[in-house]
Amino acid sequence: MTTTRDGCTVELYALLPPAGEPEVIHQAIPAGATVLDLGTGAGRIALPLAALGHPVTGVDNSAEMLAHVRNAETVLADIETLRLGRRFDAVLLASNLLNTPETALRRAFLATAAYHADGPVIVQWTPPAWFDTMDAGTRQIGPVTVTTKDIVRDGDLLSATAQYDTADQHWEHAFTALRLSTSDVEEELAAVGLRLERWLTEDQSWFTATVREPNQRSSVSANPSALGSSDAQAT
Ligand SMILES: C[S@@+](CC[C@H](N)C(=O)[O-])C[C@H]1O[C@@H](n2cnc3c(N)ncnc32)[C@H](O)[C@@H]1O
Repeated sequence: MTTTRDGCTVELYALLPPAGEPEVIHQAIPAGATVLDLGTGAGRIALPLAALGHPVTGVDNSAEMLAHVRNAETVLADIETLRLGRRFDAVLLASNLLNTPETALRRAFLATAAYHADGPVIVQWTPPAWFDTMDAGTRQIGPVTVTTKDIVRDGDLLSATAQYDTADQHWEHAFTALRLSTSDVEEELAAVGLRLERWLTEDQSWFTATVREPNQRSSVSANPSALGSSDAQAT
């Protein structure tokens, strides 16, 4: 079993099918738009997006995850310090990376997104209502049964364990997410020169943000000494 720095299991993400994410993104961007996918994992979203006609560049700090990403350019790097020196028609920050409890990291994720955006930044986050309604339970994603258990609420933090089972495999991923209000998100976006544009889904778990002023987008620069760094390595 191979686990990423943030606790994701590579074998699991190589197995999990998309659950409508590529279509949400595809309908929000022009045909053929280039996409920078931050935290691409095993390409669960990137590969269907490429099949829908979008040239995709997938970024991840796990080489083992990126080994599964075929038919797309990959870059081995930390999102927070990434500066590729080129822009994309859309930048994707999915998988609730926005809800990291680490404030500086969240700000750096958004600064990287803003820096590379020549069009919408598309964000998937965990909206505030989820923190109240989230309960232990089981759901099916393709061949994987996902059970959420051990939920602990501590102010705006929610910790839990996601258990993943297939016919012959079992994985667990403990995680902690921070509740952000919509106004918190608007403040975070403004700090890197972005503004919230529109919700993409009824449950408000996806939204787009746009660059306010092109010359404000890099006002938060990458700070490798504060955040840790890795050399970007494209394949
Ligand atoms: C929950 S997985 C989701 C992968 C993919 N977006 C999907 O939906 O299948 C999160 C991915 O983000 C990557 N990741 C998390 N933090 C990162 C960081 N700071 N820099 C680069 N990659 C990161 C992890 O290695 C992992 O592959």
